Amino acid sequence: MLDLFADEEPWQEPLAPGAVVLRRFALPHVEALMRGIAQVVGQSPLRHMVTPGGYTMSVAMTNCGRLGWTTNQHGYLYAPVDPQTAQPWPEMPAAFTALCHKASLAAGYPEFRPDACLINRYAPGAKLSLHQDKDEPDLRAPIVSVSLGLPAIFQFGGLKRNDPLQRLMLEHGDIVVWGGESRLFYHGIAPLKAGYHPVTGECRYNLTFRQAGNSE
Ligand code: SIN
Ligand code: FE2
Repeated sequence: MLDLFADEEPWQEPLAPGAVVLRRFALPHVEALMRGIAQVVGQSPLRHMVTPGGYTMSVAMTNCGRLGWTTNQHGYLYAPVDPQTAQPWPEMPAAFTALCHKASLAAGYPEFRPDACLINRYAPGAKLSLHQDKDEPDLRAPIVSVSLGLPAIFQFGGLKRNDPLQRLMLEHGDIVVWGGESRLFYHGIAPLKAGYHPVTGECRYNLTFRQAGNSE
């Protein structure tokens, strides 16, 4: 039932230098990914983080892996312990690691070994303003970003905040990989349109894999 479109052949769309969209690439993995999300969320619940500026984010977040992205009054940081549970972040589910490896190979980053996976949940109206992923010390590692559930408009710009934006719809099973020349390109998610998806219900999930520590 859940794998209604699992036999659709994936395809690739170049996005920018070093960046590619792997359309429907995650579809065969969806059930395992959803089980992984449930497992992680059971240990480290989704929460609305508060930015250093005092703004409560509309996207609900949690993490798995050795390091997790979080906020405190001073800024953004990667931490080994979930500040809400005072426990290490849950282990990265094997299905996450396996899919990320396949996707990074397909995108031309065979060496990528993520140590952090941020789980984002978007309810209708939730958005992520234009930003750069720049809290990671080793920018040679790419970003691998998996979309599940309701479609969302992804904005992808350039190195400067006011560079022109490409707008593309990310759908269930799509993966965006960016690195190399586009590693620091600005990107964001427009406010999620309400809807219903058979796998995720009334929301969208995004898994963002990163190397957040130094390579050993
Ligand atoms: C992010 O930029 O961290 C997430 C992007 C997305 O939700 O697709
Ligand atoms: Fe990002």
